[in-house]
Amino acid sequence: MKIAILPGDGIGTEIVAEAERVLAAVADVHGLKFETEHALVGGAAYEAHGHPLPDSTLNLAKSADAILFGAVGDWKYDKLDRPLRPEQAILGLRKHLGLFANFRPALCYEQLTHASSLKPELVAGLDILIIRELTGDIYFGQPRGRRTAVDGHFPGAEEAFDTMRYSKPEIERIAHVAFQAARKRSKKVTSVDKANVLETFQFWKDVVTEVHAQYPDVELQHMYVDNAAMQLVKAPKAFDVVVTGNMFGDILSDEAAMLTGSIGMLPSASLDKANKGLYEPSHGSAPDIAGKGVANPLATILSAAMMLRFTLNQPTAADHIESAVRSVLSSGLRTGDIWSEGTKRVGTREMGDAVVAAITGKTITTKT
Ligand code: IPM
Ligand code: MG
Repeated sequence: MKIAILPGDGIGTEIVAEAERVLAAVADVHGLKFETEHALVGGAAYEAHGHPLPDSTLNLAKSADAILFGAVGDWKYDKLDRPLRPEQAILGLRKHLGLFANFRPALCYEQLTHASSLKPELVAGLDILIIRELTGDIYFGQPRGRRTAVDGHFPGAEEAFDTMRYSKPEIERIAHVAFQAARKRSKKVTSVDKANVLETFQFWKDVVTEVHAQYPDVELQHMYVDNAAMQLVKAPKAFDVVVTGNMFGDILSDEAAMLTGSIGMLPSASLDKANKGLYEPSHGSAPDIAGKGVANPLATILSAAMMLRFTLNQPTAADHIESAVRSVLSSGLRTGDIWSEGTKRVGTREMGDAVVAAITGKTITTKT
């Protein structure tokens, strides 16, 4: 099993390092063999190779069975031409590898109920799954650009445009993913659209409804995105599987993340049609705290667990990581983002150490 490791920028390197140590520990305990290979991506790759997604990185990602990804982006690249910005690396990987199905579970751990900005009773036991379409929508619509009065460059531009589009097969395949996921959960799907205003999302709604005919055992509800944003904070537990387009999914998944206490807890899986996948935390590169050793590595560690479950077919090892995370939270260790009175604040490395120790049963002393 070959895993491509792409840490990226900002806190990416720190959190991915902890997930790698956890993977090594679980491999040891469960007798698994992983081959890992690292490559630069995002701003780090731009600095070294002049491009955020160099061919060597893309080829490694293509040749691997699974990809563990950190995060990309830094404000210092905001002035670069769009094709050279770090974000293009993750968008390019998703597109080139056909990773159309993005799973973003929002799970409120019992131990973190009080870390949420919502009342504990609203989020206690929360377990929802956002399924975001990842390779279509306005993110990849053509044409896009700027109409300019002067020379095609931003300072002289008078308007800019992006095109929102979805094809029928693109909607069908993500709808199937959502209904099938719902069958393994509480058999309820909420499809989020903006059919009252946008042609693209009237079409989305029609196609999802058509696919639903094949899943009579699953309940389907349609909801406008503005209402969904409101319902998510009003009564989040009323949702189970939420399926939506690329941009609405981007926004709603950040919102859902905060229900759980911290975006630092949320893993994600981006899968192709054969379940090959890229696994990354739902959060970004957080340049403001990069290099300080304070970032929460749990979202990345939990992403590694998803990788074991979805792509590498090692459900027992995946469960082991997840229960290790639970026991570390129960022991009261918290990184700054989830810290509250009465718990012990630890850094990235110590949190990684604690998860490794929970897996191996050995105590680890961090040397700093
Ligand atoms: C995400 C991120 C990305 C996105 C960025 C970094 C391109 O926000 O994965 O949610 O918009 O998809
Ligand atoms: Mg996002």
